[in-house]
Amino acid sequence: GAASKGEYRHYMLKEIFEQPKVIEAALEGRLSASSVLVESFGPDAQALFQKTRQVHIIACGTSYHAGLVARYWLERYAGVPVQVEVASEYRYRHPVVPEGTLFVTLSQSGETADTLAALRFAQTLNYVGSLAICNVPGSSLVRESDMSLMTRAGPEIGVASTKAFTTQLIALMLLTLAVSKAKGQADYPDIVAALRTLPDVCQRVLALDSQIETLSQAFAEKNHALFLGRGAHYPIALEGALKLKEISYIHAEAYPAGELKHGPLALVDSEMPVISVAPNDDLLEKLKSNLQEVRARGGQLFVFADKEVGISPEDDIRVLELPYVHEALAPLLYTLPLQLLSYHVAVLKGTDVDQPRNLAKSVTVE
Ligand code: G6P
Repeated sequence: GAASKGEYRHYMLKEIFEQPKVIEAALEGRLSASSVLVESFGPDAQALFQKTRQVHIIACGTSYHAGLVARYWLERYAGVPVQVEVASEYRYRHPVVPEGTLFVTLSQSGETADTLAALRFAQTLNYVGSLAICNVPGSSLVRESDMSLMTRAGPEIGVASTKAFTTQLIALMLLTLAVSKAKGQADYPDIVAALRTLPDVCQRVLALDSQIETLSQAFAEKNHALFLGRGAHYPIALEGALKLKEISYIHAEAYPAGELKHGPLALVDSEMPVISVAPNDDLLEKLKSNLQEVRARGGQLFVFADKEVGISPEDDIRVLELPYVHEALAPLLYTLPLQLLSYHVAVLKGTDVDQPRNLAKSVTVE
């Protein structure tokens, strides 16, 4: 059944490999030939998105990282300002809610106590409406929100979230396209076409598994790791670091690459692996100079990049080449090798991959 491990050694690995299939499911029936179907978000969505002048996104853990990616997307492609915050902070401050603000929660389970409390608090404020992006139909978050969109990832058993995250990103790109369309801005047929090919491109990334397993050997004896990204890939670096912490117990931090010189560079020596997510976008040239700063200090560099990027493997730098993808969707694609990397490091370290110590799948008490 849906919740058996089948041929896989761990649920987490099975769930990583399910991503092409669940991404397809998350898109099913929600696109027309060249745009998104706004009504996928419910009968009131068109009217609500039309009124939306900014968005507040609230979530915890991995779901919060999906929200951080959505900020880049909604601002760039829908032109609406976005704030993203962890639920446990939001619910205890005094947020200012400008006219026309949409409240969005992200949650795999729909039962996370802080996220649910944040929604209930938001309902006492001046929002135009609430949307839950969630993996569990009928969950508390879905029942109590004005609108919902299901991520359709199927049951996720591994405590470290994988397919729930990538399907949240799909839902958030659909939201971006829907807000833009409802506000009469743009349709982005290029992104819609790229979404359709994404399951196949993800499959090609998963085929790199044995190469990633080989890379993982360099991490098993390490105590620390640094993840770098820029733009929408900074949240992906955060998610890569979180995955490594959760299941391998290696201390990992993520930085926006431009902040390297403002502190973390002091930590870089030959014992510090640095993992950089460097797809081929307009920030790449800057990232390349950051990478030189790491190499100059003897740091071991691991670069996940598009073939076109022109970073060639040398003694102190190892490159994993990823297939080309539309730049809007690169954050989603680049998540996959980071999931696999942390998985293989955890297996080498012999941890309980699916049930890491001290963590719970769903935190339903504060
Ligand atoms: C726990 C889980 C995480 C998850 C977070 C938020 O900490 O271990 O994997 O990201 O809760 O859960 P949610 O169900 O709200 O997405």
